[in-house]
Amino acid sequence: MTSTAAEQSSHADQLFARLQSARTRSDELFRVVHPGALYDRPVPERHRIIFYLGHLEAFDWNLLREPLGLSSFHPQFDQLFAFGIDPVEGGLPTDQPKDWPSETRVREYCQRLRDQLNAGIKDAGGKDPELRRLDLGRLLNVAIEHRLMHSETLCYMLHQLQGNRKLAQHTPPAPFPPTHIQRSLAIPEGTATLGLPRKDGAPFGWDNEFEENRVLVPAFRIEMFNVTNRDFLQFLRDGGYERRDLWTDAGWKWISSEKRQAPTFWVPKGNTWSYRAMFAEIPLPLDWPAYVSHDEASAYARWVGKELPSEAEWHRAAYGMPDGTERAYPWGSDGPSPEHGNFDFQRWDPVSVGSYPAGNSAFGVADLVGNGWEWTRSPFEPFPGFQAFPFYPGYSANFFDGKHFVMKGGSPRTAACMLRRSFRNWFQPHYPYVYAKFRCVER
Ligand SMILES: [Fe+2]
Repeated sequence: MTSTAAEQSSHADQLFARLQSARTRSDELFRVVHPGALYDRPVPERHRIIFYLGHLEAFDWNLLREPLGLSSFHPQFDQLFAFGIDPVEGGLPTDQPKDWPSETRVREYCQRLRDQLNAGIKDAGGKDPELRRLDLGRLLNVAIEHRLMHSETLCYMLHQLQGNRKLAQHTPPAPFPPTHIQRSLAIPEGTATLGLPRKDGAPFGWDNEFEENRVLVPAFRIEMFNVTNRDFLQFLRDGGYERRDLWTDAGWKWISSEKRQAPTFWVPKGNTWSYRAMFAEIPLPLDWPAYVSHDEASAYARWVGKELPSEAEWHRAAYGMPDGTERAYPWGSDGPSPEHGNFDFQRWDPVSVGSYPAGNSAFGVADLVGNGWEWTRSPFEPFPGFQAFPFYPGYSANFFDGKHFVMKGGSPRTAACMLRRSFRNWFQPHYPYVYAKFRCVER
């Protein structure tokens, strides 16, 4: 669609086009899976891959069916594929492949409901081009972003599939040469604006992005670049995984019980390490950011006598300006484009830190958005004035348990629409499969 055509099309048409584009993205991802691997469970804490094939469609269907006046034709599948899992106390799923329906039946279900949803959305858009009735515009945004989020988290799962269980789309390029020298940057005291104002005409945001709130952040220092695999190797060689004093009680329990001695993406190779990239094992790329769990990032920070940034500190470093104003993105007000960072599905893997100087923040901090989410030390909590979405009450509220931590920024597989300032992501501190990096702060 040309920009002129996009300007002339209705809100309903634009949302429908975005939904179709998100579907293309998720369909592509399932083509990465070897046909014989659809019932595999690459991550023990998550469902088998077949669940996600049904879930992306059933979610849209369960969300939009009633507002669009459509009727269920397979209530059992509507329920089976309704929600994913995130066990917090170690209870892993025990279902077997035979417990799941055949791929043919799942694909038939998906196609039938897509056809019905398409007709329903077209019909609703014909009667109400701005989709104000029944909150349909917001519901479609939820469907689109939910699908794009899964297009990323599904990548975390497929990343863990053995090489012969997926069909290579791309071979990682040789790592870029080192381009950076780590520096500590001073961020003066100032205000960070988190969240979105709840008002008519506000842009779409998830329930946890509301309401807007301002936080006074005392002066601090932050590392210009992310901690790299080279840095993390030093932590490892200094016995970082054996030093009890560097880990929280829960973190120590986690690495001890799983006998962890290195990040999940690292593969031991004799006396050295290789790296599990999405489609190939490669020599450890020393200048790529270290993708690690929150527990590992926190232990590293303690090892260097620093800590992870709080959510507000991260905001301040990313969006603050020396004159006290704030930007929409670290680099300014322009929307995300490829020179600003490694995001929006440009690549399957990270690149060397410091590869996108055009994306630096006003204070000079590099790679804040893209190339991997960034861990903060802030537990995931509601902002003042939080109200759960009535149509999806558990989206955020189920995770306000002190056992999940906020991540900001975005990864190579994060869609551009979710790189907005107010977007918040969260995971458990010992979930090691996320494309998440970190940097340290001190006062
Ligand atoms: Fe989901």
